[in-house]
Amino acid sequence: MNILAVGDIVGSLGIQELQKKLQKVKQEKQVDFTIVNGENAAEGMGITEKNFKDILDSGADCVTMGNHTWGKKEIFKFIDHPKIMRPANYPEGVCGSGYHIYSCKNKKIAVINAIGRAEINIMTDNPFTVTEKIVNKIKDKVDIILLDFHAEATAEKKAMGYYLDGKITAMFGTHTHVQTADEQILEKGTGFITDIGMTGPKNSIIGMEKEAALKRFLTGLPEKYKIATGEAIFNSVMFSINDETNLVEKIVRINN
Ligand SMILES: [Fe+2]
Ligand SMILES: [Fe+2]
Repeated sequence: MNILAVGDIVGSLGIQELQKKLQKVKQEKQVDFTIVNGENAAEGMGITEKNFKDILDSGADCVTMGNHTWGKKEIFKFIDHPKIMRPANYPEGVCGSGYHIYSCKNKKIAVINAIGRAEINIMTDNPFTVTEKIVNKIKDKVDIILLDFHAEATAEKKAMGYYLDGKITAMFGTHTHVQTADEQILEKGTGFITDIGMTGPKNSIIGMEKEAALKRFLTGLPEKYKIATGEAIFNSVMFSINDETNLVEKIVRINN
């Protein structure tokens, strides 16, 4: 079983790049199941219903989110759709779900989304204990568990990897929009990578136009971000999972 995770889709350029590349990658690498992070699909902030549909139509099986989940108000119309999830560690009672279970090739696959707390100013619950609780609840019902841990700090992501090592199939990080080269199988068997990167404008500062981002750094004054244009990149990571053991055998970064 090959499971592909595609990094944060940034703007319409990111969606176009996904439409261009995903089917090809899926065919070439024999991908069975695809997770796409869509938190920046709507010009950097959130996701519209049209974006959500476009991402699914391009070949994604489900969409995970992050700190920009609520960036577009229309999310409240489709947040309960079974193919989209928001970070699980929002306080109880918040709409939407932090995980879903899917069927694929006679396997039950759980996908969980959680958000970090270091350097992310959102008053969420503890991502470690919330995720562990979900894992304990579903572990006997599923074959494979994947976690998109949307976090800024590398240490928090690594800590989550070790916290869940041996308890989940794989964890991948999102949010920084920069792919890391530290893919590994942890000591107790969990597949891990700190960040899978982004799908969006190449010549940019994490997807945004260079000029506005630079101006912020140079002057300290507020400046409105704009999505960059031009060439695009596609960042993803594939986990190859053994059909007998349900353990990750290989992790490959797939970029263009
Ligand atoms: Fe993002
Ligand atoms: Fe983010």
